[in-house]
Amino acid sequence: MPLTGLPSLMLLFVGVLVGGAMAREPTMLARLANNLLQNYTVKVRPVRNWTSTTNVFLDFSIYAILKVDVKNQMVTTYLWYREYWLDRRLSWDPSQYEYVERLSLPISRMWSPDIVISELVEEDTSLEVPYVYVNSTGFITHLRPLRAVTTCILNIFSFPFDKQNCSLTFAAWTYTASEVTLVLRRTIEQLRKDRFAFVSGGEWELLDIVPYLWLQKKDGKLYSQFRFNMIIKRRPLFYVVNLLVPSLILMIVDLAGFLLPPECGERVSFKVTILLGYFVFLTTVVGILPATAQGTPLIGVYFVVCIALLVISLLETVLVLRVLYGHQENNTAGVWTTLLISLGFSPDNKDKSLTHTQGSENSTSNNDESGASSTLLEKAYQLDKILTFCYLLLISCVVVGFVLAWALP
Ligand SMILES: *[C@@H]1O[C@H](CO)[C@@H](O)[C@H](O)[C@H]1NC(C)=O
Ligand SMILES: *[C@@H]1O[C@H](CO)[C@@H](O)[C@H](O)[C@H]1NC(C)=O
Ligand SMILES: *[C@@H]1O[C@H](CO)[C@@H](O)[C@H](O)[C@H]1NC(C)=O
Ligand SMILES: *[C@@H]1O[C@H](CO)[C@@H](O)[C@H](O)[C@H]1NC(C)=O
Repeated sequence: MPLTGLPSLMLLFVGVLVGGAMAREPTMLARLANNLLQNYTVKVRPVRNWTSTTNVFLDFSIYAILKVDVKNQMVTTYLWYREYWLDRRLSWDPSQYEYVERLSLPISRMWSPDIVISELVEEDTSLEVPYVYVNSTGFITHLRPLRAVTTCILNIFSFPFDKQNCSLTFAAWTYTASEVTLVLRRTIEQLRKDRFAFVSGGEWELLDIVPYLWLQKKDGKLYSQFRFNMIIKRRPLFYVVNLLVPSLILMIVDLAGFLLPPECGERVSFKVTILLGYFVFLTTVVGILPATAQGTPLIGVYFVVCIALLVISLLETVLVLRVLYGHQENNTAGVWTTLLISLGFSPDNKDKSLTHTQGSENSTSNNDESGASSTLLEKAYQLDKILTFCYLLLISCVVVGFVLAWALP
């Protein structure tokens, strides 16, 4: 047992030694990386002649619009951001290195352009990607996700049918245009059409991307900048279902209240209940509205107008009841009779003379009084009809006005 065990144990020992030695021998990739970075200095721009410029190629895809914060006027965009540049110091001959064409190297060990977004207001909390790809000509590909929280002037007047126009400006913070120039990797048309990565399930829809490059002059020096405007549109369905439709339904129910006979007091309580219901609705939905310091969205005006319409419809009912019963209490011609006359109900109306002749046939004071009250009832009905018609006109005007105001901008 020990005689057979010892050689095998020794074999194992030798095997471990050889294996360890092989692991310590640098692999071809490690050798290449060491050779590339050995005499490399990260401090300087990768050009042989300092007068030549470094072209940095930019590319991006919008992945998602995470948040639009109206109160703080901030937009959070998630981008797939790509930078490319040429660093001849990191080139090699593939035939000397087993035909390796691409190599990943840590970005901290090499020069990289200091491109920042001018509108950024919060630290970029997206994942840092520590590696870049270098190909054998020294062309560097740096891909990373970018969570950009940027300022944007948000105008919510036409909420929930609003469109926003936000811009993101990329610029090399220290280098002037003669040192680092930004170039687009793809054509503007390709960038505009790029919806490949966009997650379109959220509240915001990406309508257009308008990219452009230009030089900006600051303190007599030119700086290369790249900006794109993104035009985004809110999907209004949620707000239509939760804000506009319930409000419209209450208005329709209120209109249906005009079908109730004006002489029964039920109509007043019906309308008061709807008014109360509307206030309850408003207190529950007010949290959905965007809070902003500058101006009210049109929908706020819409709610106020709806309340005003409900109040007007309630006042109309009260007015008709007042005409009906207020006149009975004191037979002297009051304000309301004057109102009736001014509206075209002259006392010597055809209907009234008709009831008078009917009353004179029976020739009892009791019947005469009931005849007078029935005339009053007819007048009230007529007044109610006219006022309802006016109210319908008013509502149509309001509806047309709001539809136009929301559709026009
Ligand atoms: C780095 O520089 C040293 C001395 O200047 C030189 O001996 C060495 O060959 C260089 N290495 C590479 C990979 O160029
Ligand atoms: C650098 O480039 C400029 C013009 O492009 C040229 O005049 C100058 O001689 C170059 N310098 C060197 C050291 O090659
Ligand atoms: C490295 O990438 C650049 C840009 O894509 C390309 O022009 C060049 O041919 C590539 N080099 C090699 C050796 O593949
Ligand atoms: C978006 O805003 C920029 C200015 O910030 C303006 O030049 C551009 O025309 C606007 N685009 C649209 C579609 O409104």
